[in-house]
Amino acid sequence: MTAPDHGARAARSGSTRRQFLLGGAVAGVGAAAAIGADTALNASADQPPSAPLNGDLTVPFHGAHQAGIDTAAQAHGLFVALDLHDGTDRADLTRMMRILTDDAARLTQGVPALADSEPELAAAPARLTVTFGFGPRFVERARGTGPDWLRPLPSFSIDRLVPELGDGDLLLQIAADDPLTVAHASRMLLKDTRSFASVRWTQQGFRRAHGTVAPGTTMRNLFGQVDGTTNPAPGTPDFDRVVWAGEGWLAGGTGMVVRRIRMDLDTWDELDRGGREQSVGRYLAVGAPLTGTDEFDEPDFAATTAIGFPVIPEFSHLRRARSENPDERIFRRAYNYDDGGAGAQVSDAGLIFVSFQADVDRQFVPLQRRLDQLDLLNQWTVPIGSAVFATPPGCGEGGFIGESLLT
Ligand code: HEM
Repeated sequence: MTAPDHGARAARSGSTRRQFLLGGAVAGVGAAAAIGADTALNASADQPPSAPLNGDLTVPFHGAHQAGIDTAAQAHGLFVALDLHDGTDRADLTRMMRILTDDAARLTQGVPALADSEPELAAAPARLTVTFGFGPRFVERARGTGPDWLRPLPSFSIDRLVPELGDGDLLLQIAADDPLTVAHASRMLLKDTRSFASVRWTQQGFRRAHGTVAPGTTMRNLFGQVDGTTNPAPGTPDFDRVVWAGEGWLAGGTGMVVRRIRMDLDTWDELDRGGREQSVGRYLAVGAPLTGTDEFDEPDFAATTAIGFPVIPEFSHLRRARSENPDERIFRRAYNYDDGGAGAQVSDAGLIFVSFQADVDRQFVPLQRRLDQLDLLNQWTVPIGSAVFATPPGCGEGGFIGESLLT
C-alpha cells in the first residue's frame, strides 16, 4: 500500500506496520491469540482487497533531506516554536536532538515513541512528517557558524508583528493527514523537550482533508484563491536548485520562513469578483492568469485591454511576486488558519505562509521587499508573525537531525 504518487517521497507498505502490531500481540498475549489475530486480519484474504486506509500511509523519515519539505503537503500542519532554557548547552542540544529524532523516526512509521503514553494513537501515521528547524540562538549554543541569513527578517512597512507570534530557537513542523495523529506526535515530542526548552508559540494550519479533492490539486486559501500554482516541482533539478543549501553544516538542508499573515475576510467581502481577480491577477474559478484559461497558462504581462491598460495589473500580486531575477524564487508550502470570530468581527483567519529556499537573503527578502513596495493584496493582508529557521539536512538510520552541526 503506497501513498498516492504525487510527492517526491514514496510511502512504505502498510503491511510492515501490521507485522509490527502482530509482533506486539505475540509478545503480549501468546502465539495462539496472535494466530487468531492474524486470521482476523486476513479474514478477507479471498475477497478483493479493500481500499487502503489513509491512516496507514507513511513517509520515509531517513534520507538526505528532512521529510516535510518535498513531501506533498498533508492536510494538517502544526508549527511549534520553542525557546531554549538558559542553561541548555551544546551537549544538551545533542541529547535533545537524538531523543527527538528517535521519537520522530518511530512516530512517522506508525510506531509508538519510547514510553509513549498513548501508543494506540501512534498506529495511524497518516503520512506524518516531523521537520526540525534551528533558530539563530540554537546555532549559537551549538557553537556553529552561519548561515549569514539566519536572523530575523528586515522589517517591512506592511508588518504589524506581534513578538509572541514570531522567532524562536527550535521549530517543529508536524504535518499529517489526520489531526489526531498531529496532536499525538506533538505531545510526544514536546514532552521530550521539557528539560531543554519551553513552547514560545504554536500555530495550527489546514488544507483540504485528504481525499476531498484529487491528489495534486493546488490548494485554495481562505480568499478562495488557488494558491501555490507557480512553485518549483519537488524532484526536479529546478526544485533542488531553489531549495537545498549546498554548503557547510546546512548542506542538504534549507532555509525556512514562517510568516503568519492575517487575511481580512470581512473587508475582502466588500470587493466584487472582478476586483478580487484584479488584485491577484488570476481568475478565481480555476486560478488561470487573467490572460489565459488554464491554471498553468503562462501569464502575458504585455497584454493590454482595449483602452491600453495591462490586463494583469502592475499592482497585482502575481505581477509583483514574479521577479525578473531568476535567483529570487522560493518554494511555498502554506497552510490556512482560522481562529474563529469575536464580537462584530466574523473571522480571524489567514495564511501560515511557509517558504523554503536555500538562501533567505538572496531569494526571499527581495521578493518580500517588492511586495512591501506595491501589491494590491496588501489592502487585505497583514503579516503579524515572522520567523526564520535553518532546516538541517536529513539523517540516516542511527544518525540524528542536526548531527552535521552538533558533531
Ligand atoms: C496572505 C498572503 C498571501 C496570499 C493570500 C497570497 C496568494 C497568492 C496567490 C493567489 C498567488 C497566485 C497563484 C500561485 O502561483 O500560487 C500567489 C503567487 C505567489 N505568491 Fe503569494 N500570497 C501571499 C503572500 C505571499 C508572500 C508573503 C510571498 C513572498 C514574499 C508570496 C510570494 C508569491 C510568489 C513567489 C508567487 C508566484 C508568482 C509567480 O507566478 O511567479 N506570496 N500568491
